[in-house]
Amino acid sequence: MNMPLTGRSIGLDGIPAAVTALSLVDGENGVLVIAGLSVERLAETLTFEAVAAGLWRIADPRAEAVEPATFGRLRAAAFEQALHICPSLVRLGPVDGLRAALAALDIADGPSAAAAIVAAVPVLIATLEALRAGRAPLAPDPALGHAADMLRMLRGAPPSPAEARALDAYLTTVSDHGMNASTFACRVVTATRASLVSAVTAAYGALSGPLHGGAPGPVLDMMDEIGDRTAIAPWIAAALERGERLMGFGHRIYRTRDPRADVLKAALERLAPATPRLAFALEVEREARAQLKARHPERPLDTNVEFYTALLLDALGLPRALFTPLFAVGRVAGWTAHAMEHHARAGRLIRPEALYDGARPEAA
Ligand code: ACO
Repeated sequence: MNMPLTGRSIGLDGIPAAVTALSLVDGENGVLVIAGLSVERLAETLTFEAVAAGLWRIADPRAEAVEPATFGRLRAAAFEQALHICPSLVRLGPVDGLRAALAALDIADGPSAAAAIVAAVPVLIATLEALRAGRAPLAPDPALGHAADMLRMLRGAPPSPAEARALDAYLTTVSDHGMNASTFACRVVTATRASLVSAVTAAYGALSGPLHGGAPGPVLDMMDEIGDRTAIAPWIAAALERGERLMGFGHRIYRTRDPRADVLKAALERLAPATPRLAFALEVEREARAQLKARHPERPLDTNVEFYTALLLDALGLPRALFTPLFAVGRVAGWTAHAMEHHARAGRLIRPEALYDGARPEAA
């Protein structure tokens, strides 16, 4: 092979790793299609439960349809497991606690495994959080929607319809996104014919990194550190000078603005218009985009989904330590659908190669 070995790590840019009908990420035009709908339309018209069920039907048309009520029933079933699994994991904190709790789930592969895992994720998060805070965990209310029930379990009281709608819009918006790092991890593990719980646990591990789903907490940290309006421009300039990455900006695929940023911005503006926090964030965004453009004229670096995720989840009163686990509540719909699609299409083992640039025995 005559490929130059530059020493720079290879990121598999532009290399197809699957064929999928679940979502289309058109990075040149800033278009995202999930379950056959544009992300803008999706968040306006469908609940998270409908999106998850729709993804599973696309993944495997022979799979049984999953009714919205099923999610509530399965959340209640997951609560029994959560009460056993979570107490010893609280010490890990919310991000690693969820990883360990996912790994401990007792859900056998089968027709309802995807829905059971999707239903379990918010229950595990809320149970871990209640135990951490010294509260008795709240049992799920199967009559509520997935987003509303999650907010209720986390905050101890039912949310307003506007809050539930805003969180639902978030979950649908992040439900799937092509061959992102966590979905790729899920596909790799699925392709070995390991269990769905194993594949989801691996996917969550990938999601938890700051370059992927770990970014929204640090977005708020950045705004807190900046502090006030006069400090925005010098703070950003100094961070970029130190070679740091601005959290919530840039994307491997999008060469335009991430369309999810605008969907979440609209959801935030409906929920909490004209707050000082939003006005400050808009200034940070404007300045960050301008300075990134000046530093990387060759490489469009624009706002990504995590910037407005952070602001939306914060406006819902959710603690930043939970932002990465909450991303998983939405994305697990996509992970499970990709696993189903892989099997439905008789997918092969995923096994790329490495270019070796180490010593040869003869030369040693
Ligand atoms: N701030 C400052 N500089 C950046 C940023 C950023 N947010 N993003 C990219 N750059 C720089 C890189 O340092 C690189 O510069 P260099 O060539 O001088 O080293 C240049 O822009 C090109 O970077 P890319 O090759 O486009 O970056 P890559 O595709 O590897 O990374 C990523 C994409 C990881 C999202 C990156 O933009 C980043 O780290 N962003 C901040 C973290 C973040 O917001 N993550 C959430 C992403 S969305 C999601 O996963 C759900």
